[in-house]
Amino acid sequence: MTELHGSRVVLRPLRAGDRPLLSRWLSDRELRRYVTRGRAFSPEAPDSEEFLILLGSHPIGVCGLFAIEAKGAEVGIVLGEKDAWGHGYGPEALGLLLRYAHEELGLTELSLYVHAANARAVRAYEKVGFSVERRLVLGRWLLGRGQALLVMRWRAPGEGRT
Ligand SMILES: CC(C)(COP(=O)(O)OP(=O)(O)OC[C@H]1O[C@@H](n2cnc3c(N)ncnc32)[C@H](O)[C@@H]1OP(=O)(O)O)[C@@H](O)C(=O)NCCC(=O)NCCS
Repeated sequence: MTELHGSRVVLRPLRAGDRPLLSRWLSDRELRRYVTRGRAFSPEAPDSEEFLILLGSHPIGVCGLFAIEAKGAEVGIVLGEKDAWGHGYGPEALGLLLRYAHEELGLTELSLYVHAANARAVRAYEKVGFSVERRLVLGRWLLGRGQALLVMRWRAPGEGRT
């Protein structure tokens, strides 16, 4: 894995030393409401490639590819620093991640789950080319009354539905 450079953010591979920072971010109550991944971001997760998102030298979040298979993977992103929300850093990091997934790993299809109520995240994913494929309304014991999850998918240019 290498560093990925955008116009404002840099993605560098997650390291064991980043663990305290991840714990701090993911222990935040507001942030945890948005996160759909059961498993925490972790430098040693198998079948995954995870990156710290840096603004200059300052870490603002984490993103990655999970359950990587021959052609596909799942995507996740969390900007742990709330000051960083709403400036377009998320889509920029996702754009770098998608290009890496396609050009370096040869992946052609990426998917993710997002709370339907998380409008900012849904919009951020749409901005980099994901579209909503399905809406899941799960038992209300799991998500809460009236809550739904969206399954979103991205396909590499030229890759049709299989
Ligand atoms: C989701 C996240 C990655 C998006 O990154 P970001 O850099 O904040 O995204 P942007 O600044 O590009 O905002 C995305 C879009 O949402 C819109 N938006 C911003 N705040 C919004 C809000 N409160 N409600 C609805 N839309 C909002 C923005 O206007 C923008 O759309 P536009 O460019 O068409 O105007 C980041 O906010 C984050 O990590 N949030 C907390 C964790 C999370 O939700 N992770 C995703 C879990 S699946």
